[in-house]
Amino acid sequence: MSDVNWVRNTIPKTDCSANLSLMDVDTIKKIRDFHKSFPQYDATPLISLDNLAKRLGVEGIYIKDESHRFGLNSFKALGCTFALAGYIAQRLGVPVWELDYKSLPEAASRLGEFTFFAATDGNHGRAVAWAARELGQKAVIFMNKGCPQVRLEHIKREGAEASISDLNYDDTIRYVIELAEKSPNSVIVQDTAWEGYEDIPGWIMQGYAVMALEACEQLQQKNIEPTHMLIQAGVGAFAGSAQGFVSNFYGEKDPVSYVVEPNVADCYYRSAKRGDGTQVNVGGDMKTIMAGLACGEPSHMSWDILKNKSNFFATIEDHHAARAMRVLGAPLPNDPRIISGESGASAMGFLLELLLNNYLRELRKESGINENSKILLFSTEGDTDPEHYREIVWNGKYQKY
Ligand SMILES: Cc1ncc(COP(=O)(O)O)c(C=O)c1O
Repeated sequence: MSDVNWVRNTIPKTDCSANLSLMDVDTIKKIRDFHKSFPQYDATPLISLDNLAKRLGVEGIYIKDESHRFGLNSFKALGCTFALAGYIAQRLGVPVWELDYKSLPEAASRLGEFTFFAATDGNHGRAVAWAARELGQKAVIFMNKGCPQVRLEHIKREGAEASISDLNYDDTIRYVIELAEKSPNSVIVQDTAWEGYEDIPGWIMQGYAVMALEACEQLQQKNIEPTHMLIQAGVGAFAGSAQGFVSNFYGEKDPVSYVVEPNVADCYYRSAKRGDGTQVNVGGDMKTIMAGLACGEPSHMSWDILKNKSNFFATIEDHHAARAMRVLGAPLPNDPRIISGESGASAMGFLLELLLNNYLRELRKESGINENSKILLFSTEGDTDPEHYREIVWNGKYQKY
């Protein structure tokens, strides 16, 4: 039996051009110029797993390896660096394009001292803490219940005040909003949007889209047009940005896309299944090893893009992500090794199931998977919890049987 759920997107189309235009190709190229001003910036590699593709019966599997991003082991700093620049530019009344790595600390200091607040499972908080320190400002970070100590230590090492709450991710955000509202000179840096809070999440999505820009250009250099793309979703800022950018880049010829979530945090899947375009939220503890995806409330800006542009929504279980971590960590001969964490490997977990499991042949057929398929994925993190990574990859934790 398949323990993967999937649904084709049949939601009636609406006008998503306002959110889609955030990921306009020329704008994202300018944001990449902004990132280039950081000494830590480099395009991350797009890894081609040729032998795995052959073995799984498709033409190509291409994975963006975000473990190399800014030396922070995940893609997240792409978003908050640009968001902090956007915020400072807005407050100073100058175009964001006037700011870069060198001028940002001085520009920030003109606004006085302030504190960035964020809720996180780890990666976003570490990136906010790092960016705040680069600007010479403070950060206060709250992690949701169940987050490992090692991720807390990573955040503290970046100089932030950080703690683990006893709330789930979505409730931690509400707590942070309350706290920030009571604190002087506070700025909430969150990747999810809500009514009236759209500027910062919009800038974060635009910053993330640089990853998709790099991937599209790296494929283009090899004369490859992807036929399929898999994108994992927590609140959906990453998925919305990648989907938006790729749709803008390829236009009519954009790849068939699948949004992948853990089965316990399947708010996008449930929203797609409901089919009328409204969002469905999921509550409770959402216990999963895919910590970055344990979010039960879609960001409405991302949902607007995904419901109009993504083709399929799917859920996986923890053992699928764990298997993908092992497959990527112990590749076939001549395929490069990718160190991919639990959320990072999730889309690959779904792809393995899709290509190997006969119960999914209907989905393969419906989505046009065949020997000519060229599939793009994003490994959005490395071993952000190294002990847990080894438990899974060395000791085989989270096997299906
Ligand atoms: C490694 C990793 N991948 C994917 C995601 C999902 O991003 P989003 O919450 O924008 O959907 C996260 C979020 O924290 C993450 O840490």
